Amino acid sequence: MARKKITVVGAGHVGAHTALWLAIKELGDVVLLDIVEGVPQGKSLDLMEAAPIQGFDSNVVGTNDYKDTAGSDVVIITAGIPRKPGMSRSDLINTNVGILKTVVEGIVKYSPDAHLLIVTNPLDVMVYAAWKFSGLKPNKIMGLSGALDGGRMRSFIAMELGVSMEDVHAMVIGGHADEMVPLKKYATVSGIPVSQLLSTEKLDAIMARTKKAGGEIVALLKTGSAYYAPSRAVSEMCEAIIKDKKRVIPSAVYCSGQYGVSDMFIGVPAVIGANGVERIIEIELDSSEKEAFNGSVAAVKNLINELNLGK
Ligand code: LAC
Repeated sequence: MARKKITVVGAGHVGAHTALWLAIKELGDVVLLDIVEGVPQGKSLDLMEAAPIQGFDSNVVGTNDYKDTAGSDVVIITAGIPRKPGMSRSDLINTNVGILKTVVEGIVKYSPDAHLLIVTNPLDVMVYAAWKFSGLKPNKIMGLSGALDGGRMRSFIAMELGVSMEDVHAMVIGGHADEMVPLKKYATVSGIPVSQLLSTEKLDAIMARTKKAGGEIVALLKTGSAYYAPSRAVSEMCEAIIKDKKRVIPSAVYCSGQYGVSDMFIGVPAVIGANGVERIIEIELDSSEKEAFNGSVAAVKNLINELNLGK
C-alpha cells in the first residue's frame, strides 16, 4: 500500500511539531512547506536524522514550492501569525486571511482532492474562509478546536484528581475563542461523571481556565502561542482521516441546520473518517449551555461578516 501524503503548511512551532507527530506515528510521508527559504528544509532534514533513532520510515521533505505538495491526501494549514500577549485571536484576522488565501489557492491547485485541516486563527472564521477560497465540499474542511480545547480541559481535570490523563474525557464545543463552551456534564473519568469527583467550584474553575488556556500559554511564552498540544491535537484529526477511524472529535465543521446553525463552521462533535466530516452528532444541551453556544456562534458570525467574503 502506497503511503499517504500529508502536507503541513507553515514550518513554525505548530507546523514543525505537527510534522514530528505525523512522522512518529508513520501516518504518511510528510511535506513541510513554508515561504521562508531554508527553514522547512532544515527542520525536515533534522527530522529525518531523528528517524533512525526513533525508528520511523516516513519521509519528511521541506520545500518552498507548492508543486512539491501535489497529490496530498491531507493538508494541515498552520500558516499565519500567532498572538502576542494581550491580543485576542480575532486581532489576527486581516493578516491571516490574506496568508490563508494564498495558501489555500496554492494547495488546491496541486491537491484538488485533499482534506484541509485548519489551525490558523481566528479559527472558525479561517475555516469558513478556507472553504470559500478552496471551492471544496464542506466535509473536506475542518478546523482544530475541540481536540485541543477538550485536551486542555482533560489535562486540568487529571492534574486536579491525580488520575491518568488517558482516563479523562471532556468535551468543549463552540468557537475556538474565549467564548468556547466546555460541557460540564460530559466530562468523565472512565465513564464516571466528573461532577461526582470534583466540587462544583473546582469544576467551574477548570472550565474557566479551559476557556482562557490558549491565552495562558501566550502570556507565559510572550513571543508566540502554544504548539505542543495544538500540533498533537491536529495530528489526531489527521490520523482519524488517514486510518478512517470514525473518531468522535468536536471540531470546527460545517453545520447545515444542526444545533440551529446554518452555513457556517463551528465546533460541534463530529465523526471524522476517510470522508472527512462524516456526520455531526447532536447532543443535549441545557439552557445555559445553549445560550453560551449561541453567543459563541454570534461572535464567529460577526467576524465572518467583517471579512465580507460574500455568500
Ligand atoms: C491556542 C491557539 C493555537 O489555543 O489557538 O493555543
